[in-house]
Amino acid sequence: MIQVKDLKFQYPGSDSLTLKGLDFNIEQGEIFGFLGPSGAGKSTVQKILYKILSGYKGEVMVKNKALNKWGKDYFEQIGVGFELPNHYLKLTGKENLDLFASFYKLKSQRNLEQLFEQVDLLDALNKPVEAYSKGMKMRLNFIRAIQHDPDLIYLDEPTSGLDPVNAQKIKQLILELKAKGKTIFITTHSMHTADELCDRVAFIVDGEIRIIDSPQNLKTKYGKEAVNVKLKTGENQEFPLKELGCNTEFLQFIKQGEINRIHTMEATLDEVFINVTGKSLGV
Ligand SMILES: Nc1ncnc2c1ncn2[C@@H]1O[C@H](COP(=O)(O)OP(=O)(O)O)[C@@H](O)[C@H]1O
Ligand SMILES: [Mg+2]
Repeated sequence: MIQVKDLKFQYPGSDSLTLKGLDFNIEQGEIFGFLGPSGAGKSTVQKILYKILSGYKGEVMVKNKALNKWGKDYFEQIGVGFELPNHYLKLTGKENLDLFASFYKLKSQRNLEQLFEQVDLLDALNKPVEAYSKGMKMRLNFIRAIQHDPDLIYLDEPTSGLDPVNAQKIKQLILELKAKGKTIFITTHSMHTADELCDRVAFIVDGEIRIIDSPQNLKTKYGKEAVNVKLKTGENQEFPLKELGCNTEFLQFIKQGEINRIHTMEATLDEVFINVTGKSLGV
């Protein structure tokens, strides 16, 4: 769906490169994530891909066509959820969406009520957006990005600043979009969001990609291939995963008393991030 080779970018007036030669591909139907601390260059990459920033160097192909060859029809194909909700505050939620819908040749008549319902905003449909909470604005932002039924969706920090309930709602909706075959590119500085959503994640730091893999592979690769068993007595022992079923010590241990918990020793994505990049994700 997207192929990026040696992408470089420097903001006018800046004395160094913000993006220092990025290579990545996004496959059709996947959720691909950029995970990195604030200032890493995540939003800059997305702004280039949704054509708000020009003047980049390198090769960017979207749907087998060079990005700079795409005309206005590109915007029919993509949906963009900006990092900060930027709505018309005096207009209602419905009026905001109607206004943005008027920019598109809608493929089919969208069901506005269903969209609002999906994000629990039906009651607020006709309320001015200035009366919305931050979470409501973010949810409106989300349905505004997808109302024209795009195949390719860019979401910049879709869960940032949301309480756990709202964040969970948005994550669920993103997974539903994937189930419909959409391709989704998200940026996040939250390891939980990356871990729960992404088929593959790129770690980005200081304008460079350090590694790209699935969260599961990363956690396994950088964790210990072992299982830790804790008994109710408080006794606690580690066993290698390799040939665990034939490990007589392990088998004896789990028969020895009642088990309190068993867990594999895979790393968290946060730990992997520090291990790979030497930097923390910050808050
Ligand atoms: N309009 C701009 N002009 C100059 N520098 C910018 C501009 N926008 C972002 N930057 C700088 O580019 C770097 C990457 O920013 P950004 O892509 O927003 O990072 P992220 O989204 O990962 O937090 C930061 O150092 C930021 O200060
Ligand atoms: Mg950003």
